[in-house]
Amino acid sequence: MGGEEERGYTPDPLIASDIDAYLNQHRDKSLLRFITCGSVDDGKSTLIGRLLHDTRAIFADQLAALEADSKRMGTQGEAIDFALLVDGLAAEREQGITIDVAYRFFATDRRKFIVADTPGHEQYTRNMITGASTADLAVILIDARKGVLTQTRRHSYLANLIGIRQVVLAVNKMDLVDYDQATYDAIVADYRTFADGIGIGHFTPIPISGFRGDNIADASDAMPWYHGPTLIAHLETVPVDADADRAKPFAMPVQWVNRPDLDFRGFAGTIAGGAVAPGDAVRILPSGRTSSIARIVTADGDLASAVAGQSVTLTLADAVDCSRGDIIAAAGDPPQVADRFEATIVWMADEPLIPGRAYAFKSATQTVSATVQPPKYQMNVNTLEQLAAKTLDLNAIGVAEIATDRPIVFARYADSRTLGGFILIDKATNATVAAGMIRFSLRRAQNVHWQALDVGRDDLARIKNQSPRVLWFTGLSGAGKSTIANLVARKLHRMNRHAFLLDGDNVRHGLNKDLGFTEADRIENIRRVGEVAKLMADAGLIVITAFISPFRAERDMVRAMLPPGEFVEIHIDTALDEAERRDVKGLYAKARAGQLKNFTGIDSPYEAPDAPDIRIDTAAIIPEDAADLIVDHIIP
Ligand code: ADX
Repeated sequence: MGGEEERGYTPDPLIASDIDAYLNQHRDKSLLRFITCGSVDDGKSTLIGRLLHDTRAIFADQLAALEADSKRMGTQGEAIDFALLVDGLAAEREQGITIDVAYRFFATDRRKFIVADTPGHEQYTRNMITGASTADLAVILIDARKGVLTQTRRHSYLANLIGIRQVVLAVNKMDLVDYDQATYDAIVADYRTFADGIGIGHFTPIPISGFRGDNIADASDAMPWYHGPTLIAHLETVPVDADADRAKPFAMPVQWVNRPDLDFRGFAGTIAGGAVAPGDAVRILPSGRTSSIARIVTADGDLASAVAGQSVTLTLADAVDCSRGDIIAAAGDPPQVADRFEATIVWMADEPLIPGRAYAFKSATQTVSATVQPPKYQMNVNTLEQLAAKTLDLNAIGVAEIATDRPIVFARYADSRTLGGFILIDKATNATVAAGMIRFSLRRAQNVHWQALDVGRDDLARIKNQSPRVLWFTGLSGAGKSTIANLVARKLHRMNRHAFLLDGDNVRHGLNKDLGFTEADRIENIRRVGEVAKLMADAGLIVITAFISPFRAERDMVRAMLPPGEFVEIHIDTALDEAERRDVKGLYAKARAGQLKNFTGIDSPYEAPDAPDIRIDTAAIIPEDAADLIVDHIIP
């Protein structure tokens, strides 16, 4: 924020002389987080400057101290949520991508405030989502001369989407319309029609002038027809989410386990919802095991109870398994566990969403791997129409199904921002690419249970006298994958081992005949082959696969699907010019002639393995020797 609106501001002298005393003075006040929506033209900077001025605010350098302080005191309800998104985005900031969300702190005699000031244009949607993700309240700013605009609707939709329950419609610049009540009433009526349509049931309209200070701290003499609260009076008294969170069933994501080796096994975290006391029956999720609370431990001694927003360490009456990422919840009213969801996703990266790719999925303290289906639709945030979409680009908001690689504990976002909110992270770059809100789990996840098999994979492998393996060949087209893989299959067969070869060209005639060679299709190709290979390994077979499998992320995904050590990555390493010189199928010539698009190595990438289990340099070794080497590796 620029300097102009801060001119004339006098900080509380206590900040300079005794910051501890200043913090103490504010310690017991509740904290309201809010966001201002609107553009500079609407007078947003002036309004924020006015709020800071009229309340003798303190500035960003003290914010860190206050944040730490309020966290310690357990007044910050959404500590984990906030940390998740901000940590993720901090990494991006280090990479030089600016997320312009300025947080300002100020306080009055009754309450302390953090206001997130985010830019209003559509290209800053992700900034607004970031600022709004922890807010209790949104101030939607309107220029009284202009009324409800497209951007007013967009901001309101986003604020509602991100779960902000309190909306203030600040009709600004009333001085420029002669404080006219009819103008104000018309704008409020117009907004009410829109708000009803998107499910904002309640909002508080206030006529103001940020420039002149009308109805900011003091009631305006110029608008005697207005009988509601001033903006600051409203901000001071509106209920904060932390209060509502306390009424919910108890749930605490476990952030870390204290001294798991010693007899004091404490589970530390911030309570996401409800209240807890020693003796309460709890359930550990996702395992579902039950126990009861023994103690609530803090640095200042044991507590008789604790509520949402407080950071505590819990000990349990029984030595049950519980680790980081688990959720300790009220035994009688636990959150749900599932691995398939419908979610609203806000895409925040320059690179578009790749459906089918595995992203890291973080929710509360849980981290799993997840894939996103092609979106069901994308929202036009200006017209609120649902549009068809194959992917999501920067700032796009869409609804899609998500599958996680193992079940997670969750609540609907509407019920809990902590347990229903998540972020997606690109595994290769570690960039936060999306923020999401779980709408509901899909029935499939709850109803399709794993059928416990009477004859297990170990039994099936034992009668074949072998250990299951997936020998995963990767390399350029024409590198020699199929040739060497066939030799390996023959050798294993001669040794009376049960091996089966899945070959790219063959599988593409059957199971995967609907797939081509775009990035998305190759990812789906490998995902399906990975699942088939896993089933065959479950049946006790040695599986050999020969696919280009050009992307590291998908090879790693298949590795993660199998028990440790079962996936053997074999890089058939042939230089591109050598593969092209051999050109066994004549495809390189076609690709060079422009008759074949997306050809690996020509106009589609190949990501070589960094550390394959076996690397075969085909320039240095003949296929027979390569096959011997591979067989020796699995059957010493
Ligand atoms: S992958 O990239 O999805 O793993 P896969 O191994 O199944 O590829 O198929 C590769 C085979 O398809 C090649 O050996 C080649 O015979 C054929 N092919 C046809 N078009 C292409 C292309 N554009 N890129 C690579 N291979 C192609």
